Amino acid sequence: MAFPPAFLDELVARNPIEDVVGQYVTLRRSGSNLFGLCPFHGEKTASFSVTPDKGMFYCFGCHKGGSVINFEMEIENLSYADAVRALAKRAGMEVPEDEQYQSRYRQQERLWALHKEAARFFHTKLYDPIGANALKYAYDRGMTKSTLTKFGIGYAPDSWTDLVDALRQKGYTDQELRDSGLVTVSRKNGNLFDRFRDRLMFPIIDVRGNVIGFGGRIMNNTDKSAAKYLNSPETLIFNKRKNLFALNLAKKSKLGYLILVEGYMDAIALHQYGFDCAVASLGTALTEDGAALLSRYTDQVVLIYDGDAAGQNATQRAIPMLEKAGLQVKVLQMRDAKDPDEFLKKFGADRFRLLLEESSNRVEYQLAAILKKYDLRDDDQKVKYLQESAELISSLGSSVQREVYAGRVAEAAKISLDAMKLEVQRAYKRRQARQKKQQEKIDLAPARNLQPKSRTIRYDNMKSAMAEEMLLALVLQEPALLDQTAPLTKEMFSSELLGRVYAQLSQRHREGLEVNLSGLTDFTSEEMSHIAGLVQRNQGPVNEQALLDCLRTIQREYQTGKVATEADLLALRDKMKERKGIRA
Ligand code: UTP
Ligand code: MN
Repeated sequence: MAFPPAFLDELVARNPIEDVVGQYVTLRRSGSNLFGLCPFHGEKTASFSVTPDKGMFYCFGCHKGGSVINFEMEIENLSYADAVRALAKRAGMEVPEDEQYQSRYRQQERLWALHKEAARFFHTKLYDPIGANALKYAYDRGMTKSTLTKFGIGYAPDSWTDLVDALRQKGYTDQELRDSGLVTVSRKNGNLFDRFRDRLMFPIIDVRGNVIGFGGRIMNNTDKSAAKYLNSPETLIFNKRKNLFALNLAKKSKLGYLILVEGYMDAIALHQYGFDCAVASLGTALTEDGAALLSRYTDQVVLIYDGDAAGQNATQRAIPMLEKAGLQVKVLQMRDAKDPDEFLKKFGADRFRLLLEESSNRVEYQLAAILKKYDLRDDDQKVKYLQESAELISSLGSSVQREVYAGRVAEAAKISLDAMKLEVQRAYKRRQARQKKQQEKIDLAPARNLQPKSRTIRYDNMKSAMAEEMLLALVLQEPALLDQTAPLTKEMFSSELLGRVYAQLSQRHREGLEVNLSGLTDFTSEEMSHIAGLVQRNQGPVNEQALLDCLRTIQREYQTGKVATEADLLALRDKMKERKGIRA
């Protein structure tokens, strides 16, 4: 839907980009820009810029950029409209909504409120006489009272409709109850029943603090037919692939890294023992969305999965996902206990801190995992060990790393470093050949050829495009200059994208609206990034003569371009005639 331009202007004015970005990124001033570590890709040096007077951000590393609205969209993974809503809420503004959107958003808000109500209900029941068993179970498992409060842990009574009744009493409709996923519907008569019964309840809270679902644990391990943990189903507000347990707390940690574990109980125990940076995935393996979410809050993750085979497999699968999200990965090998929860209770925080210090980077971990598979006294197995290690080492980006690890493997297998290096080189060549083949396959894929990703962004006339870029950068810096560009129409732009930007900016100027990036509508995030990039590239003092030069270049290129096209058309027509003549 289109929001009124005046509303958007006020929204942008009341959400200064440096404040909004500042909630996620630590920024330092440098001239008229602020710089910080880019939240969209992993990096060590600050190439992420915010320019408050232009209301824009731009990363010189990954080339993402745009207005405060684009930032909100990217960072919270929201649609344009939802990003506008989030910013409006932040600034305490009423959003002019059309019916359909209103109802969807209201539905979400109702479900958040319903879940908060449910969490309160469960938490209260934990201290009710009917929750006595559950409370004892929680204490027996070592949770302190303050942990129970901090995580909002609760108890779902062993009843059919206690929660249903309580929520109905609070005014929630049966439809809302059904949408919440907290009830089951009888197939016989359509009656609603509590989904969670006689379970210890763990609220799942998103990074913005909304309760979006629950995990519920049975408390006796004797009933083998019931799943140990029951989780909320997917709903309008709950996507288990896109959220992580305890991230709402861990994102505030000062430890500088995040710990990723498998279980709710592991995350909770870690927090209780002072490792307040622990998060757990939600009853599934880590997903790419989960990895991307983590990378917004840290650039280093310590993986601590269970010591069993399943945990180790999950570790191997998580490593590339985390690295792809730009995260540095370390792996803590669980020893003498099956999971962190058990370890902490057996040995305490200090012993755990030792384990943490010992945790190896992912290459060491993976090399150790390969070594475990083979018996080096057997020559055949030794060769396989060397080949597999060489394969892994050949995938490393830095030659120093390759050299170091090749040395370690050579030593372990008692062969010469030269022989090992040769093996790595061979693996490297094989890998390159493989990648080349894959690339060819991609290049030949017809869909991709027909639909190049940045078709609207490509420049056909570089000379004109450079002048167009400069002109846009100048008027964004000094909107009054738009009074002098009157002869220019969007058709004269060689780049369709830049022409569109120009048309919107000059129209806003005519209507007395703010001329800035945030006023642009209907551009993709890729296009917005490109626009922010050109503004950064063309920064400099405002200069009227430069503007006029740009104007002239654009007009001239347009004229000659037009002549050329007309000439081409004439030539084409002549050719057609000729061919017809031959046939006739
Ligand atoms: P674990 O069985 O390792 O969980 O499963 P845990 O946290 O250590 O539990 P405790 O210590 O036995 O109480 C790891 C995670 O897998 C999901 C849950 O998210 C759990 O935390 N899971 C496990 C389920 O969703 N359903 C199940 O039946 C079991
Ligand atoms: Mn456990």
